[in-house]
Amino acid sequence: MSKLDRIKAPRGTFDVLGEQSAGRAALEDRARAILGGAGYQRIETPAFEATELFARGVGESTDIVSKEMYTFEDASGRSLTLRPEGTAPVCRAYIEHGMHKLRQPVRLWYLSSFFRYERAQAGRYRQFSQLGAEALGSEDPAVDAESICLLAALLGEMKVASLRLRLSSLGSLAARQEYRERLQAHLRAHADRLSEDVRARIELNPLRAFDSDHPGTGAVMESAPRLLDFLSAEDAEHFAEVRAHLDGAGVAYEIDPTLVRGLDYYTRTVFEFTSDRLGAQSGVGGGGRYDGLVEQLGGPATPGIGWATGIERILLAGVPPHAAPATVDLFVAYEPAGEGDARAQSHAPAGAFALLSEARAAGLRAQMELAGRSLKGQLGYAGALEARYVAILGAQGEAILKDMLGGGSQQTLAADTVVHAVLRGLRSLSP
Ligand code: HAM
Repeated sequence: MSKLDRIKAPRGTFDVLGEQSAGRAALEDRARAILGGAGYQRIETPAFEATELFARGVGESTDIVSKEMYTFEDASGRSLTLRPEGTAPVCRAYIEHGMHKLRQPVRLWYLSSFFRYERAQAGRYRQFSQLGAEALGSEDPAVDAESICLLAALLGEMKVASLRLRLSSLGSLAARQEYRERLQAHLRAHADRLSEDVRARIELNPLRAFDSDHPGTGAVMESAPRLLDFLSAEDAEHFAEVRAHLDGAGVAYEIDPTLVRGLDYYTRTVFEFTSDRLGAQSGVGGGGRYDGLVEQLGGPATPGIGWATGIERILLAGVPPHAAPATVDLFVAYEPAGEGDARAQSHAPAGAFALLSEARAAGLRAQMELAGRSLKGQLGYAGALEARYVAILGAQGEAILKDMLGGGSQQTLAADTVVHAVLRGLRSLSP
């Protein structure tokens, strides 16, 4: 038979193996402690949603919606999309479950997979994990500051290197509309110096011009009007209060009036954490206020603010949390069957499996030989697992129990007393 082609994981996706999985689990533990401690509850939303949710929520003109969504029709002809981000789904859930009737602000966090058809490279994937936190139902600037501080605390605990926080305010939708027109006029006046891409977006999404790395566009943007100069008195006051809270909390930031985010729902506060460690994909996490989004999705007028951070980017730019190795209290080994034994040579005897089950039922972290190694091989394997005790089962219902830490001391005893002996031994060690 000819050898079949090997099937590989799709481009931009990856498998999470051994140590990486331990690092991710430790990060999740830290997130649960930090966010849970601040009153956030976990939420899980479906991996796919009605396409309309993102078209309306994130915005038709954004790269995410116009180019990057995994959209498909299901068998009934409905258009569905694998979630490219988590804020619109959380707002959908807030509306759907009548959460405006709960005590506000409602604070929710998530850790899930997201999907964007992006050009894959280090730190940028087509399936990636975001940890996100959203607070709905309050426009108090203290909620903005709290949200930013929580992300700063998490990134700090993960020891993300060369971290910078950029902060700005986009004001309310009305101010932004006026500003947009002024910016469009500026771009049109200098259209000949702009990149083709930016020129094509003057009408649809002029703010993205600030994101361009095209030199001509850069020069034009230096003299462009700045959104911060167009804020209403109320929005400017809101922004000043956010900054005062951050100052009070000792969180360092830079005001960056050119900060634009790739999603349309933002109003007022926006922010982004970057790390030089990440190269081109420097965004570690970002977010902002989205006071019109819930209404935009058919719910009651509800302010909101939140952020999301990429797990893979945190692990690239930070120090993976130390994951304690899995402890093995007891390893069950056995004398391999002798010649002429009816049992297949490499299979474990029934007594070994029974002992493993008894040990686990008693709460011990137990493993057994499952690969038909020689006795010497089994002991080597138990040593590599750093097993505390090894029980070697004999053929007559007896066992040799080796204390691997206690200088390898050993005793022979009845197999059905092994669990008891291990429990007693472990207890005598605990303080
Ligand atoms: P975002 O800036 O699109 O915001 O994504 C947030 C973070 O997700 C980024 O800073 C980055 O760390 C990570 N990320 C995004 N795309 C990729 C990718 N292709 N590969 C790896 N990591 C990626 C949002 O998604 C908003 N929903 C954030 C938010 C929450 N705003 C308010 N609430």
